[in-house]
Amino acid sequence: MAFNNLLLDLNTGILKITINRPDKLNALNFETMSELRQAASDFYDNDEIKAVIITGAGEKSFVAGADINEIASIGETNARKVAENGQETFALLENSHKPVIAAVNGYALGGGCELAMACHMRVASENAKFGQPEVNLGIIPGYGGTQRLTQMVGRGKAIELMLTADMIDAHEAKSLGLVNHVVPAGDVISKSEEILRKIMEKPPLQVGMSIDCANAVFRKDEDGYHTEANAFARSTQLDDFKEGTAAFLEKRKANFEGK
Ligand code: COA
Repeated sequence: MAFNNLLLDLNTGILKITINRPDKLNALNFETMSELRQAASDFYDNDEIKAVIITGAGEKSFVAGADINEIASIGETNARKVAENGQETFALLENSHKPVIAAVNGYALGGGCELAMACHMRVASENAKFGQPEVNLGIIPGYGGTQRLTQMVGRGKAIELMLTADMIDAHEAKSLGLVNHVVPAGDVISKSEEILRKIMEKPPLQVGMSIDCANAVFRKDEDGYHTEANAFARSTQLDDFKEGTAAFLEKRKANFEGK
């Protein structure tokens, strides 16, 4: 499917989604958010897609936030809907059983930081900058940022970042656990692909189970240990469990089939 604000490129199992509004630093207008939601549900259902990279067009910005032109005139009812829709879209990314990496190639501010945090991992370029500057506009994060930032960097630092609107660089973001890897500008895609190619050699159902169990930590009313024990038991019923253990014992490389 063709989108107005996203570029999609599928290369041997890895779908690259590029937010493509470089003249607006890839700000997320409502149309882009709805396209992102569509793209996410599409990749859930497409068996050719094994993993996903999300990045921004140009060299300056990943995503510089929600589109302030649209947010400026929003009313209360619409604002609640916009936040709920955005939260649902980002939850689709977070709950995907296919690994999703944010290749953060510049500014990841507001909704951009929230988008990056909804992905399973973040690879940042040296020039990346992270922040939740919404307070400067008289709003607060609305696409899950108050929750995920607190989960990722702890309450004290999350509150400091939201209240001061300070931007932090990629190295500080890494030291806080917000970023997995920092690489030279221009290398975010290749580093993300390298990680995903390694994961794609693993058994995909067990990859999905691992993501789901990690997410279970943050689901209310769920005992993550119970989820883990169930998934562990289920994994032993899969062909790829037989293959993984047999390959180890036979001193050969496993050939997983996702069964
Ligand atoms: N929404 C809408 N447009 C945005 C935008 C956003 N979140 N972020 C940047 N843009 C637009 C600018 O208005 C400008 O458009 P114009 O050329 O038509 O005037 C263009 O992108 C380039 O941005 P500019 O501000 O000129 O670049 P800069 O290098 O001077 O500054 C930033 C970069 C990221 C520091 C600055 O653009 C910024 O603070 N953006 C808003 C960040 C934010 O508050 N995000 C949270 C939104 S809820």
